Amino acid sequence: MSAGQISGGDDISALVIDTGSRNVRFGFSGNDTPTLTIPSVVGAQSSGTETSNFVGDTELLYPHKHMDIERPVTNGVIQNVEKVCEIYSYGLNRLTGRRNADLSELRVSHPILMIDPIVCPSAVRAELVEYLFETLDCPAVYFAHSAVTACYASARYTGLVLESGAGYTAAVPIHEGYALHNHVVSSPIAGDVITGILDSKLNDKHVDLLSPYQYFKRGSSVTHRHLPGITDSYHAFRRAMLVEDIKESICDVPDVPMDDSTDPTPPESYSLPDGSTVTLGTERLTVPEVLFNPTMLDTTAGRNNNPAVQGMVVSSIASCDESIQRDLFQNILPVGGSTAFPQFVRRLTSEIDTMKLPVFKTKVHSYNPAERGQAAWTGGSILSSLGTFHQLWLDRAEFLEHGKGVANTKFL
Ligand SMILES: Nc1ncnc2c1ncn2[C@@H]1O[C@H](COP(=O)(O)OP(=O)(O)OP(=O)(O)O)[C@@H](O)[C@H]1O
Ligand SMILES: [Mg+2]
Repeated sequence: MSAGQISGGDDISALVIDTGSRNVRFGFSGNDTPTLTIPSVVGAQSSGTETSNFVGDTELLYPHKHMDIERPVTNGVIQNVEKVCEIYSYGLNRLTGRRNADLSELRVSHPILMIDPIVCPSAVRAELVEYLFETLDCPAVYFAHSAVTACYASARYTGLVLESGAGYTAAVPIHEGYALHNHVVSSPIAGDVITGILDSKLNDKHVDLLSPYQYFKRGSSVTHRHLPGITDSYHAFRRAMLVEDIKESICDVPDVPMDDSTDPTPPESYSLPDGSTVTLGTERLTVPEVLFNPTMLDTTAGRNNNPAVQGMVVSSIASCDESIQRDLFQNILPVGGSTAFPQFVRRLTSEIDTMKLPVFKTKVHSYNPAERGQAAWTGGSILSSLGTFHQLWLDRAEFLEHGKGVANTKFL
């Protein structure tokens, strides 16, 4: 076995990778949770003709001079396959526990199940298949859509999966294990948009958000430090991490519709890493409200024609064959990090109840919010560990015979 090979010895369990706009999750088939979650971000530092790439949660915390931050996955879609493969190589290498090995030597002897969004350009899948077989020497691969695997995670084959992560929100009807592609309703309003709105509210309030690389702290005294060569994109990346943490810690969706003129809600505070405090009042609730009321967005942003989550669920189900609508209404499954707001399920249920026909009963299933973010990964882990699944892999022989386009014909 070569130096960079991942091998489980007798254990040939598959690896599962879920590529999201915010996070890429890696782990072993059969496990409940991913082993590794890293940001979907690559730092690129150029010097002459050479570019050094930086990937990984801890590696990106160090502010390298002139390092630009790129996000190769936006709105759920891989835009830069080469950069995403940097993230995969790094993540797969970390699964072996060898952090600093030469990534060019990496070979993977496990089958890999790749989870992608419902809309994945065929050229992207084709390039990924080539990387998996030709660069990683992987024995077999499978592609599954995140909404389908998220449905498996709840031990269901039929349901309306409402995915809302960082880059997109989509209502995806699943029937007997298959996504009904023609009935998907989607919107770009998800976690990144909410983080952006919160960021501008904090700006309006003149909150001084200092990321830890911007100051020295001794006891309670904080001194700003100016590091030369820090790029705007790096600064924006670190700032967004802070704003996300504020959002996840003290924001929620309101029980009932709200806007900036609604009565004030009790404020909540968040302790920033430099020891100062930021306090949010009604904004705590009005910012995430955009999921339920996208018209709140500035019309100039061009996003206000997008549907609200409740409208997406109802119109997706209403467009499906009548014979399955009842089942879909009773199996609404919110997944993805942006459904983890504490009141999300309650609000979604009440909004759908006011919209749908009274003949249908609604059941929005409520899992532990922490599990919603990784539901797609967990479902992939379950799927790939099923006894009958081994017949479904795309193996090297098929790849060599049919070429990289086979990934689009074999996996719908
Ligand atoms: N507890 C929480 N409350 C509110 N938002 C949360 C919470 N936890 C995570 N999020 C948000 O969820 C988003 C990340 O979700 P997730 O990991 O499902 O996205 P992703 O899979 O990387 O992206 P996508 O599937 O949209 O391409 C981020 O915007 C994050 O801030
Ligand atoms: Mg996702």
